Amino acid sequence: MANSKRIIVLGAYVSDATFRAERMPKLGETIIGQSFKFGPGGKGSNQAVASARLGSNVSFISRLGDDAFAKMAYELWKEEGVEPLIVTDLEKGTGSACIYVDTHKGSNAITIVPGAALNICAADIEQFKYSIQSGSIFIAQLETPLDATIRALEISRQSSLTTILNPAPAVKLDRQILSLVDYLIPNEIEAELLTGIEVKSIEDARVASVRLIDLGCHASIITLGEKGALFNNGQSISIIPAPQIREVIDTTGAGDCFCGAFAHAMLQNLPPLEAVQFACNAAAISTTQQGAANSMPSIDDVNNLINFEN
Ligand code: ATP
Ligand code: RIB
Repeated sequence: MANSKRIIVLGAYVSDATFRAERMPKLGETIIGQSFKFGPGGKGSNQAVASARLGSNVSFISRLGDDAFAKMAYELWKEEGVEPLIVTDLEKGTGSACIYVDTHKGSNAITIVPGAALNICAADIEQFKYSIQSGSIFIAQLETPLDATIRALEISRQSSLTTILNPAPAVKLDRQILSLVDYLIPNEIEAELLTGIEVKSIEDARVASVRLIDLGCHASIITLGEKGALFNNGQSISIIPAPQIREVIDTTGAGDCFCGAFAHAMLQNLPPLEAVQFACNAAAISTTQQGAANSMPSIDDVNNLINFEN
């Protein structure tokens, strides 16, 4: 029987301009890069695409400008089967991001201008209140205004949705918001900003995860790049190693893939620890492809991971 449960994502869509080069230019310097690609990004949209590509029903709440980038967003979501719940902003254009990928390591540095997504407001959330209430899992990040995110988390909590917050880009958060979060999914940098604990090792992540629970979230999952992820549900702590990947091409969107895949696995009623393992596998695969939304794996890719690795 088809699963009628739904994931609701609030966040930004932006167009990613990605430059691949052997290193990043220093301020004031010009370097010759290796390649350029233009494609769909924005953490929220990437997470929505990740869940949908794995087979979940997904709705995406955002604001877009009235422009060519917005058309690209609608085409993407149509192709991926993501339901758009969009307000058209007449003041700001659809956002964009400039991404540098280091071709040696596959790692990146990103500047994002969220554009219209910065005008998402609590009234938009009220407009889509019934859609949120009809969902099972709610996900947000921090590329959209905090007041709207808090309102959406409150509605989700009142309606018993499972709430996931990916606190990216890194921002300090107080107990008011963290106590509305069932699963907080920061990377090492975000965990450090939230806790004041430098996260350089698994042991550091263990200490930071305890602090995150003290700060009010129900459970924390700190993503640790090639080291995998650390899960703390307030009772026990588990380390979930990442599968070994032969060649990392581009980690852009790996964190988004992790969040979208975790939500998908939770929607399938997997126990949280198994959902983290599933998310680690999906995110590892995403690092083998260029791009953000374009790098999200299908469910067959994840199921075939063992063949994939060999
Ligand atoms: P990004 O900003 O590059 O999208 P992030 O900093 O938000 O990523 P990471 O912790 O780097 O998040 O990666 C998220 C997840 O992706 C990790 O928990 C891991 O499961 C997977 N991953 C990332 N890098 C690798 C790698 N080199 N090998 C295997 N898995 C990886
Ligand atoms: O997490 C990766 C994403 O961050 C990119 O797609 C970029 O648009 C920024 O939002």
